[in-house]
Amino acid sequence: MSKTRIAIGVTFCLFCTAAGWAQDDIKAIFLDKCSVCHGEDGVGKTAKGKKLKVKDIHVTVKTESEEDMIKIATEGKGKDMDGFGKDYKAAQIKGLVQYYRSLAK
Ligand code: HEC
Repeated sequence: MSKTRIAIGVTFCLFCTAAGWAQDDIKAIFLDKCSVCHGEDGVGKTAKGKKLKVKDIHVTVKTESEEDMIKIATEGKGKDMDGFGKDYKAAQIKGLVQYYRSLAK
């Protein structure tokens, strides 16, 4: 196989994985990093969520835009909500916020 063909093959596979992480990984990250406080259902009724007075996504989806939430998830808010901008790429944060908002539907 020529070098060019290998390069094309590798590039193509990188695209597959990039498209592949989209949904599954976002959900996995949410369950791993966010659900302790926000709950798997986004309602925030976990032990930690109740203690920190996490709001229910069904309520905040109406009062906060996707952009507002991306900003909070990236930069954090108050002393309890950490910013995740250093841990995840902008596209992942957007995916997390979209996943979180989708729990209200
Ligand atoms: C240690 C608990 C904790 C964890 C873990 C956590 N959050 Fe939060 N989050 C909070 C609290 C508390 C607030 C409410 C802040 C406020 O409005 O004063 C909040 C608010 C938010 C908001 C603003 C809208 C709302 O519902 O109030 C978004 C969006 C958000 N979190 C996303 C995330 C994402 C995405 C993750 C995982 C990457 C995450 N959070 C992990 C505690 C947490």
